[in-house]
Amino acid sequence: MKFKMTDKVTWVGKIDWELRRFHGDEYSTHRGSSYNSYLIRDKKNVLIDTVWEPFAKEYIENLKKEINLNEIDYIVANHAEIDHSGALPLLMKEIPNTPIYCTANGAKILKAHYHEDWNFVEVKTGDTLDIGENKLIFVEARMLHWPDSMFTYMTGENILFSNDAFGQHYASDLMYNDLVDQAELYQEAIKYYANILTPFSALVTKKIEEVLGFNLPVNMIATSHGIIWRDNPAQIIEKYLEWAKGYQEHQVTLVYDTMWNGTRRMAEAIAEGIKEVDGTLTVKLFNAAHSDKNDVIAELFKSKGILAGSSTVNKGIMSAVGGLLEMMRGLGLKNKKAAAFGSYGWSGESVGIIEEKLKDAKLDVIETGIKELWNPDTEALERCRAFGRTFAEKL
Ligand code: FEO
Repeated sequence: MKFKMTDKVTWVGKIDWELRRFHGDEYSTHRGSSYNSYLIRDKKNVLIDTVWEPFAKEYIENLKKEINLNEIDYIVANHAEIDHSGALPLLMKEIPNTPIYCTANGAKILKAHYHEDWNFVEVKTGDTLDIGENKLIFVEARMLHWPDSMFTYMTGENILFSNDAFGQHYASDLMYNDLVDQAELYQEAIKYYANILTPFSALVTKKIEEVLGFNLPVNMIATSHGIIWRDNPAQIIEKYLEWAKGYQEHQVTLVYDTMWNGTRRMAEAIAEGIKEVDGTLTVKLFNAAHSDKNDVIAELFKSKGILAGSSTVNKGIMSAVGGLLEMMRGLGLKNKKAAAFGSYGWSGESVGIIEEKLKDAKLDVIETGIKELWNPDTEALERCRAFGRTFAEKL
């Protein structure tokens, strides 16, 4: 597959319909993904990014149908991660002297991955490359999301090649934001932000403000994953600005694990208490062991309140909840109020441990956690409802 985006720009990437796990097993991709690569034809021909290594051979064969590889004057590597650079080793065997434009960190990382001394041309923010009628302007986007990340802006066509930023793991043959299902697109875009970009939110705001300060018209944002934003591309920039500032919706999420349903029953009673106070709140419950961790993170990202629960096991907490709390700590979710709950049989450490982990994740623990013995009875469930009511009142 390939398609022309404008007279001068052709998409030459790969849609990966089968992908279900990304970054090892760290990110679920229920709707697949794509590795977007772009070929610019001007007086000089430029290839922007490539694809993941398993598709390298197929990618090069397809690229050869589009252009004689020797007519590629420049390669731009906006990002060294292997889902975008994976076809470089094979490509550089064919055109070994072609300059690769990337940041200084990009050159270091590409060398560390492929151990090849290719013809790197290191660029900084504001550096330009004349390609004929148009030119490319490079903008370093350090830590969005790697130290080497970079945007490339093409004048004339007014396209921002943003690499990972503004992307989504979303396979679609429709390839443009105005053609796809909007709910699916929004869900994949916010999941991508929540799971990948949250730790860098302060930098997201700063970088967007810097790019907006250039006053460059943007007709399209051509990401490296998922669809291309061509209909009101500013909409995803606005969303990123919103998501980067302690984003929350009118939602509370309870995430727990349970051995014999005691903690689950507590979760349901707490949820009832919350709804008694504010029926307009969206309240969602997830058993961490049965739920996709990245989908849950997206829900936690949207929440103003988070309740985490676990039975006590071996003087500790259940592993699925432990894993999610560790993800929350690493991501640095902002602007979330939190509390802990859990059932126990004899020692009952889980609630205290969860509270410490919530604090360690910099969440605002607004209520002392609740624990109930064995299988909660009517009175215990009423205590849980009261706990939920108090939590909702403090939101
Ligand atoms: Fe899509 Fe950071 O690679």
